[in-house]
Amino acid sequence: MKKKKSINQKTTKEQVFFLGFSFLSIHGEKSTISSSWESVMISVIELWIFDVYLALGLSARNAIEAGFDGVEIHGANGYLIDQFLKDQINDRTDEYGGSLENRCRFALELIEAVSNEIGANRVGMRLSPYADCNESPDSNRDALGLYMANSLNKYNIIYLHVIEPRINGSTTINENETPHRLLPMIKAFKNTFIAAGGFSRRDGNKAIAENYADLISFGRLFLANPDLPRRFELDAPLNEYNRSTFYIPDPVVGYTDYPFLEVTP
Ligand SMILES: Cc1cc2nc3c(=O)[nH]c(=O)nc-3n(C[C@H](O)[C@H](O)[C@H](O)COP(=O)(O)O)c2cc1C
Repeated sequence: MKKKKSINQKTTKEQVFFLGFSFLSIHGEKSTISSSWESVMISVIELWIFDVYLALGLSARNAIEAGFDGVEIHGANGYLIDQFLKDQINDRTDEYGGSLENRCRFALELIEAVSNEIGANRVGMRLSPYADCNESPDSNRDALGLYMANSLNKYNIIYLHVIEPRINGSTTINENETPHRLLPMIKAFKNTFIAAGGFSRRDGNKAIAENYADLISFGRLFLANPDLPRRFELDAPLNEYNRSTFYIPDPVVGYTDYPFLEVTP
């Protein structure tokens, strides 16, 4: 058994609540800048980036004051941070683009800013180095994942939450993807590692038993089963998710209308 500072060692509570912070995109933000405006725009962009750090730090503090145990910085699935990380979408020419180190700078500075505000033991990060989701592929996914896992150690954040390569967004794209594909990242990261994507009760348990990851997260199964932990405990049948209601705007249909288990006392 490896390492680690784990979420369970940090709290005596059975449940912890982390608020996820994600950001929408800035597709093509630099592409229309003419050369005469370049230096002015770079200053504006630097200020904008600094502003994001301040805003996120403040939001994180508010989340803690509101009662959350921590925040998860969302660097996955083609959202803003992921657009900095991936070389097929980041076309910046400043210190936030180009080399692997430069592309990861925004994510790491953001992690540092939020950790300074609320403490690294209240900060987690989500990444999807292998996903092309929302047009955000990378030409060297292994190197990106490993660099981020190693770099995040410096900030001592409480967990790293990574999506398996067999998943793109909320779709399983390769059932036969090599198991344990995240192993290099898991070995590199020294605190709690959460693996996500395509897990069932059986192979989630197997992954934990084999010390692959520290925790497994569930997306589609949880959406369709509001009492998923209870069903797992009883090894009860699961509701099947309905993909056609995944992203509809209705606040109830497809979100809060899946039935709970009826258990006879
Ligand atoms: C309805 C729905 C909405 C989702 N929204 C997001 C999202 O906003 N950001 C994100 O990173 N992943 C999102 N996901 C992906 C899940 O977090 C998860 O990574 C994915 O479903 C794979 O895990 P699973 O196999 O356990 O479902 C969403 C999934 C579903 C089904």
